[in-house]
Amino acid sequence: MSEADRQKWNTRYREQEGTGEPSAFLRSLADRLPSTGRALDVAGGAGREALWLGRRGLDVTLADISDVALEQAAEAARAAGVGLRCQRLDVEVESLPPGPFELVLCMNFLWRPLFAGFPKVLAPGGLLVFAQPTRSNLQRHAHPSARFLLEEGELPRLIQGLEIVSYTEGWTEEGRHEARMVAVAGAHRTWPT
Ligand SMILES: C[S@@+](CC[C@H](N)C(=O)[O-])C[C@H]1O[C@@H](n2cnc3c(N)ncnc32)[C@H](O)[C@@H]1O
Repeated sequence: MSEADRQKWNTRYREQEGTGEPSAFLRSLADRLPSTGRALDVAGGAGREALWLGRRGLDVTLADISDVALEQAAEAARAAGVGLRCQRLDVEVESLPPGPFELVLCMNFLWRPLFAGFPKVLAPGGLLVFAQPTRSNLQRHAHPSARFLLEEGELPRLIQGLEIVSYTEGWTEEGRHEARMVAVAGAHRTWPT
């Protein structure tokens, strides 16, 4: 199954041009994210978020199942003169890279068992930034299909061992129905609202 997933994603990335722009959600957090230390982008694809974080000064590891996405991300990082660590990883069968990370990002990827792993790799005070469409997204978009979507109100229930500091669910500026969350590990950290 995982090899089939890898091939499916490799084909998609071969058909795609460029790494894309970082999400509006991530950019909206710019003032509140760390700009030093280590960051992990889980299932980060061709690196649109990872490159943005790297440009801001973080030492970023991009983990993804797709070799093609990782090659594209590495090439874009070289071209931009940004340091980026790329790791081929199937999160359905392998553990997350060892932390501690000041920031863990997981956008547009849902594998529920990951929520048990996030606290183990976050540094004390480290942030988890997570966003994923919910079932309501099907009202306007056929993809992602239902099995990749969160139920309405499900995301806070998935969080384990972290304190939720920000959570929204609704139609976004990008036209998708999305659950968005920031959660903090261990030691309390002030989160400006
Ligand atoms: C919808 S894309 C999102 C990419 C990126 N996070 C973004 O928002 O642009 C989903 C990503 O998950 C990756 N992926 C799928 N299954 C995976 C797995 N088992 N382990 C790691 N990455 C996986 C795909 O290769 C793809 O890059």
